[in-house]
Amino acid sequence: MNHFEYKNGHLTAEDVRLGDIAAEIGTPFYAYSTATLSRHYQIFADALRGMNALVCFAVKANSNIAVIRSLARLGAGADVVSGGELTRALKAGVPAAKIIFSGVGKTDEELSLALSIGIKQINVESVPELEAISRIASANGVVAPVALRINPDIDAGTHAKITTGTLENKFGIEWTLAHEVYSRASQMPGIEVKGLAVHIGSQLHDLEPFRKAYERMGDLVAMILKDGLNIETLDLGGGFGIPYGDETAPVPNVEEYAQIVRETLGNLGPGLDIEYIFEPGRMIAGNAGVLVSSVIYVKEGATRNFVIVDAAMNDLIRPTLYGAYHEIVPVDEPGEGVDVIEADVVGPICETGDIFAKAKSMPRPRPGDLLAVRTAGAYGAVQSSTYNTRPLVAEVLVNGDKFHVIRPRLGVEEIISRESIAPWQLTD
Ligand code: LLP
Repeated sequence: MNHFEYKNGHLTAEDVRLGDIAAEIGTPFYAYSTATLSRHYQIFADALRGMNALVCFAVKANSNIAVIRSLARLGAGADVVSGGELTRALKAGVPAAKIIFSGVGKTDEELSLALSIGIKQINVESVPELEAISRIASANGVVAPVALRINPDIDAGTHAKITTGTLENKFGIEWTLAHEVYSRASQMPGIEVKGLAVHIGSQLHDLEPFRKAYERMGDLVAMILKDGLNIETLDLGGGFGIPYGDETAPVPNVEEYAQIVRETLGNLGPGLDIEYIFEPGRMIAGNAGVLVSSVIYVKEGATRNFVIVDAAMNDLIRPTLYGAYHEIVPVDEPGEGVDVIEADVVGPICETGDIFAKAKSMPRPRPGDLLAVRTAGAYGAVQSSTYNTRPLVAEVLVNGDKFHVIRPRLGVEEIISRESIAPWQLTD
């Protein structure tokens, strides 16, 4: 469920008409619903009731500080993958004690930053990274709380570009080596091994790969405990799939997911007090955002029609990058008797891949009409760019009948002002 509904023929975000936002700030823009963000966070957190659980929003899905803050206020932590995301999470008000740092290529500078703020946990993805952390922590006289991210070699059955848990992927320490690395890590200076982490991919529809990965993790926990070593945290990653509107199979259920966690990892031994960490991104932000654009032209041909809008692949790259489906709807409901055309909805960028929908049946739009691309709150604005020197897309947060521009459009002059002509070119 989300809070983008038609009210009196107008698509609204909560109580704000998207058309009113467009009139004030122009298009294209992303609009996010605070109520939907809260609801999704709450559904996830509620499903984990009874467990010692920390939900760390995967900031990569939507890193606007206002979005992070909406979730932090509900108690969410943050899962970050760069010094930049770490800085955002802190700025948004997430306490360092609720921030997890993931990623395969953390630099010395990023690791030093993480240690200096007293981060909750660094998820380590390789032995060289472990050595780097040990060196940096020792040099700074601190102890680094780490978890080993394991690669369980489980195929998540999702898009090839966002599958992370097989041995072909760069992520994590091979599960067959993890046991040995864990005991080695527990001897290293400056390191305190807290536990294990796993993340097998994104937009998972089938819950079975989660079960298999978590079972594998349970086996590892047993081996580690047998060695007399300690486990305090299990980070179970993100990846929970959401509906985009083109599914042929039912979307996964959070309660069933939580049940799998309880069954596989809920009871690992007497006296163990494990904290379970989760890193959902898409599940929280995906349906909490839409991308609103205006129709520039309707180009009707002998063989094909094109609806050309003012948003493009630089604003939302998912359709062209992953072949992802996003539902597109008119912001103002068309009146009775409007004819329907079949058209490709495309942007102005000079690439054939700049396409949001192919052969879509839609009420014939007119130039100036607004269209909303749904389910764009995750991996939308964060992946936007200024390709073709197009202004960087704006973002708006709605709360009830209020809205606020949480990232103004970055204009052409501002983009170009960061560049300069080399001194030797000035004399030409
Ligand atoms: N934790 C780790 C370590 C991750 O790598 C990811 C996502 C997540 C958590 C959050 O996964 P989620 O709950 O959002 O599925 N740009 C792609 C998705 C990339 C996902 C990368 N990792 C897309 O637009 O589909």
